[in-house]
Amino acid sequence: MNSLIDVISAEVSAAFEKAGYSGKYGKVTESNRPDLCEFQCNGAMAAKKEYNKIPRDIASDVAGALLDSKIIDNAEVAGPGFLNIKISNDFLADYLQNMNEDDHLGVDKVKNPKTVIIDYGGPNVAKPLHVGHLRSAIIGESIKRLGRFMGDKMIGDVHLGDWGLQMGLIISEIQERQPDLPYFDPDFEGEYPEEAPFTISELEEIYPTASGKSKVDEEFKNKALQATHELQLGRRGYIALWNHIMNVSVNDLKANYKKLNVEFDLWKKESDAQPYIPDMVQMMKDKGYAYEDNGALIVDVKEDTDKKEVPPCIILKSDGASLYTTTDLATIVEREKLFKPDKLLYVVDKRQEMHFIQVFRCAKKTGLVPENVEMQHLGFGTMNGKDGKPFKTRDGGVMRLENLIAEINEQMYNKIVENKAGADFDKAEIEETSKIVGLAAIKYGDLSNQATKDYIFDPDRFTSFEGNTGPYILYTIVRIKSILERFKAAGGNVEECRIKAPVSESEKSLMLQTAAFNPAITNAYEETAPHKICAYIYALSNELNHFYHETKILSEEDETKKSSWIALLNLVLKVLEQSIDVLGFEAPERM
Ligand code: ARG
Repeated sequence: MNSLIDVISAEVSAAFEKAGYSGKYGKVTESNRPDLCEFQCNGAMAAKKEYNKIPRDIASDVAGALLDSKIIDNAEVAGPGFLNIKISNDFLADYLQNMNEDDHLGVDKVKNPKTVIIDYGGPNVAKPLHVGHLRSAIIGESIKRLGRFMGDKMIGDVHLGDWGLQMGLIISEIQERQPDLPYFDPDFEGEYPEEAPFTISELEEIYPTASGKSKVDEEFKNKALQATHELQLGRRGYIALWNHIMNVSVNDLKANYKKLNVEFDLWKKESDAQPYIPDMVQMMKDKGYAYEDNGALIVDVKEDTDKKEVPPCIILKSDGASLYTTTDLATIVEREKLFKPDKLLYVVDKRQEMHFIQVFRCAKKTGLVPENVEMQHLGFGTMNGKDGKPFKTRDGGVMRLENLIAEINEQMYNKIVENKAGADFDKAEIEETSKIVGLAAIKYGDLSNQATKDYIFDPDRFTSFEGNTGPYILYTIVRIKSILERFKAAGGNVEECRIKAPVSESEKSLMLQTAAFNPAITNAYEETAPHKICAYIYALSNELNHFYHETKILSEEDETKKSSWIALLNLVLKVLEQSIDVLGFEAPERM
């Protein structure tokens, strides 16, 4: 379906032509004086030059041509030549009824679906997830879902960090603790044990201990570097140990992401890209892109128009070791080979901006991807505490994701108990509800900010049932569900209800806002901006609640009116539920 605003623009354009002017002046926008009108067209002012006429006269010709419009009820000349437009109530009702009957809520899917690989999450094996990983998971998941809704083929890849120094640190630490394990015996040729020599909680303690040690103990650090190197060269015992680390860690990560309602299509790892490195490096050398500089192999990527310095891409260090950059380039080779993507989208901390500038330029320059492949780094800002500094635990440590979620759920639990309208809730149900609402609080709190900006994680505000919060949106959804349930309980059939012309201002406002779903979601996708969906559903929820407070819906005696309202509510419910599904959370049955 065309968006409402496009339909109105087309109508006004036709009127411009009918009045003898070019249709290109007929573009309509939402009114910035909602007290006066719903839409406005400023085209007469722009047309002044071409026709050498007073804009008010042009506008008045166009208004005349709109007199018998079925779409526009009233077009009034205002000020220097604005057209203030009100649309027909019947037309609006028809538009919404069509939207209600459309199983994609009036939004057309993209005409030429693209294959998009979205690289998000990016956890590091054996290190517990912390709040820094939260944003990538939340934003990435929502963009993936948004892309799917719009019809693109979205492939979400977690891109596990499994290849860095952390592996050598863990291996070395285990060796110090359990030196007799066969993994460390270079002469061992038998089968290694199937069972990992550690549990996830041990592993999570091993890494920070080893990491701390490496900062004060030079010898230990060198051992870890050596172990990392030998692992990367394929030392058998280390590979076996690495496999254990992977299994234990990945199972835990999967469970954690599940709690966040985040799901990846691919569980690819940095190590998967390693086999592509030798050929890639050879190609870069053969074609003359890569050259030696102080022993390292580098590719220049700076451009004349650069405002800040863009250092060359280091492909191999002087000891021949590959780097994060090398891995990302080789991952591009692999992705190109396996998926031929039209677009690569990375949802990664904005502090990695330079890394991605280098990687993208190098990939294009050396032809790892065709010229038309789009590469985008959506760099997100930091999640700060109320003190404006990166979010920490009360004692100043790094807050683990699990603990953060548990804390929010507890706050949510207390709020729901406090609020309890229906005293018939049992504890288990409140707990379940707290989890659902808690997740919405966290995700909406994050997504409602522009991704690139830092934001303040404020549990009190995020869990509030009022204001621009996840719980407020869910509260609105639950309110509609409850009205529809009561309507059904009284024998009503929601599916048979039809949307009719509005009878009040608040109803018309709600209808207009509902109709704006199409441009809101389309625009959010074009700009990779989930916060625009949040802004849209917040405005929609406000309209809904305003209408609700002004209207006695279920006790209305005029059946046509009541049925129209129920149909409208049902449509708003579908729009809200679709929107939160795209954002990556859901609503409870009641709260
Ligand atoms: N594991 C990395 C980190 O924790 C993030 C990976 C992002 N994705 C990528 N292709 N570089 O910083």
